[in-house]
Amino acid sequence: MRKIKKAVFPVAGLGTRFLPATKSMPKEMLTVIDKPLIYYAVEEAKKSGIEEFIFVTGRGKEAIEDFFDYSYELNAMLERRGKKEDLDLVNALVLDPGQVVYTRQQEPLGLGHAIWCARHLVNDEPFAVLLADDLILSDVPCLKQMMSHYESVGGNMAAVTNVPKEATSGYGILDIEGALDNPLVKAKGLVEKPTVEDAPSTLAILGRYILSPDIFEELEKKRKGAGGEVQITDAFQRMLSTHPFHGYQFEGERFDCGTREGLLQANIAFSLERDDLREVTLKIMRKLAKEL
Ligand code: G1P
Repeated sequence: MRKIKKAVFPVAGLGTRFLPATKSMPKEMLTVIDKPLIYYAVEEAKKSGIEEFIFVTGRGKEAIEDFFDYSYELNAMLERRGKKEDLDLVNALVLDPGQVVYTRQQEPLGLGHAIWCARHLVNDEPFAVLLADDLILSDVPCLKQMMSHYESVGGNMAAVTNVPKEATSGYGILDIEGALDNPLVKAKGLVEKPTVEDAPSTLAILGRYILSPDIFEELEKKRKGAGGEVQITDAFQRMLSTHPFHGYQFEGERFDCGTREGLLQANIAFSLERDDLREVTLKIMRKLAKEL
């Protein structure tokens, strides 16, 4: 099994759920404390051993490219002022030359289509996909946990978690073979955004995938699914006879930063994890709780 070195970050989505913030700013640049969501996804990939970062972007997403590049004016100013710590902080974000590549999804045709846009950059090796909306707090990076299991099963894999029954219509849902007691579960079917009545289980796909490069052949057919879009979940279903699909129940907590509530929760949870913010966060929470 080849080492997984490449990760695709689909970042072309409009982010209308966060208007007005996203009117002139990519949704992936929304922050959890002082770092944008895309930073957390890239850090998770780096810590999992990813060496090549492929962004599938769109119009108005230039802020993402600038974020992972040097800002000469800022650096010069920080140097002049002797702000060594800040300088180190911004320089550490910069991805090495040739380690990052940007391509565009010109039309919003769905997640499956966005991933297909990266086909020539990925070529013929298994690769990871990370959706920045799903922020995961864990000791071992979620993608790294998945990688250690992928080697034994191959095919296609995604991180999964149980969601409330009424939330199933917002996700790709697994129809599972056997029991749920193993972290790795095999799917006998998958359905993208089923109605609550039709959901085969409550096990939902989250935005972390390890995919076989053979998926590009399926995505190439551009068959439309839920919402009239090319869905990656449909490709998993169509490939099942030749490529097993496994859901991986990861260790950690996931925040749905595609919603206001999830982003708010993530800000609180990540503050509590940080040495410089834990005490002040608790103080604020205690004060507010008393006032309620
Ligand atoms: C996408 C996928 C869906 C998955 C979800 C995870 O949906 O299509 O299968 O469950 O990400 O966040 P989206 O949230 O982009 O509508």
